[in-house]
Amino acid sequence: MDENTRGTGGGDETVGAKVGKRKVNAAVLRAPGEPLSVETVTLEVPGPHQVRVSLAASGVCHSDLSIQNGTLPFMFPTVLGHEGAGVVEAVGSEVTRVRVGDHVVLCWMPACRECFWCRVGQPVLCENGLTEAFTAPYGTLESGEVLIPGLGTATFAEATLVSERSVVKIDERIGLDQAALVGCALSTGIGAVARTAEVPAGSSVAVVGCGGVGLAAIVGARLAGASKIVAVDRVSAKLAIASLIGATDVVDSSSSDPVAAVRAITEGRGVDYAFEVVGRSSTIKQAFQMARRGGTAVIVGAGSADDDVSFSAMDLFVDAKRILGCVYGSVDADRDFPWLVGLIMDGNVDASAFVSRRIGLDDVNDAFKSMEAGEVTRSVIIY
Ligand code: APR
Ligand code: ZN
Ligand code: ZN
Repeated sequence: MDENTRGTGGGDETVGAKVGKRKVNAAVLRAPGEPLSVETVTLEVPGPHQVRVSLAASGVCHSDLSIQNGTLPFMFPTVLGHEGAGVVEAVGSEVTRVRVGDHVVLCWMPACRECFWCRVGQPVLCENGLTEAFTAPYGTLESGEVLIPGLGTATFAEATLVSERSVVKIDERIGLDQAALVGCALSTGIGAVARTAEVPAGSSVAVVGCGGVGLAAIVGARLAGASKIVAVDRVSAKLAIASLIGATDVVDSSSSDPVAAVRAITEGRGVDYAFEVVGRSSTIKQAFQMARRGGTAVIVGAGSADDDVSFSAMDLFVDAKRILGCVYGSVDADRDFPWLVGLIMDGNVDASAFVSRRIGLDDVNDAFKSMEAGEVTRSVIIY
């Protein structure tokens, strides 16, 4: 045990000022394709630069499902979940960013602030943060098997152990269930518009895929002052929510050609900015075709390594379109998480509109099924 480690306890083996390990319930994935199983996991003693966070809430994002179903490669066994918020309950001896009792949102791309990408102002591409998060001491199964913290944050658990760089302190007046959505959906969607594409006021925008992340992109487009916001989805219930939160037009791609429909709404030209928020080659192609000549397609969805997208050499040149890749909405968490929390607190973003279901940790497999069926925007696990 690290004698210098400080904390207020909350763990089974925590005594006085010393912090021990902590046993928590966590949803464990042993191999792609298997269901998650809720098991007892022992979190390690926080290292000098680590913090233990008692989680209040975690959203279930499509990227968790993509790791579970094998679309995105990962390491196993793991505890998934990367859209969480909670309260710091123990800190390592060298921690300076937060204190015990601070309310925090977890960030799945902790920036080292020292590598090339951090120094050129792209901390979302940090070359060290994720690797360190995957290899730092985290926890073990009852069998003693060492666990990998899913996307570095492992929020499908009552508590998690992460680097201090993986937490951002937030205003305590915001509900942690709403703050959790800042950890992925709101950052990725609003960030895609405000940070990756920097959409100017008056632009026309289309969003293909209106799940948690796509709806956040629609909110981002509204905040940016877009003049037209076309929501595209193949599930009509998603389009109804999209209209409520800011879409000016909707296209049901299960019953009409989405590219022709978007062109028809924009005098035949296509939109200034088309956001792909599904993660498939077919919808990436659609977003590219929906963008006007000289327009921009932004690829937000996380697709698989073997799903190739093809464009002819002439396609790429003749219409002078831009294609922008987008990871985590290009956010700088230290700057943007407090900004997003402020948008919610000021009533500019209605985070509750994203929450379809509040569930328990045991319901996480059902949450994946509902997401696959397109029944929910976000299921949020409440601890
Ligand atoms: N055309 C239009 N909409 C589609 C299509 C399609 N071919 N396929 C799926 N959709 C819609 C679904 O109906 C759903 O509303 O895309 C939406 C996806 O939403 P979610 O499953 O809730 O996923 P979300 O968490 O929003 O993530 C979207 O962004 O971060 C990445 O890994 C994530 O690739 C995923 C994407
Ligand atoms: Zn996510
Ligand atoms: Zn870095």
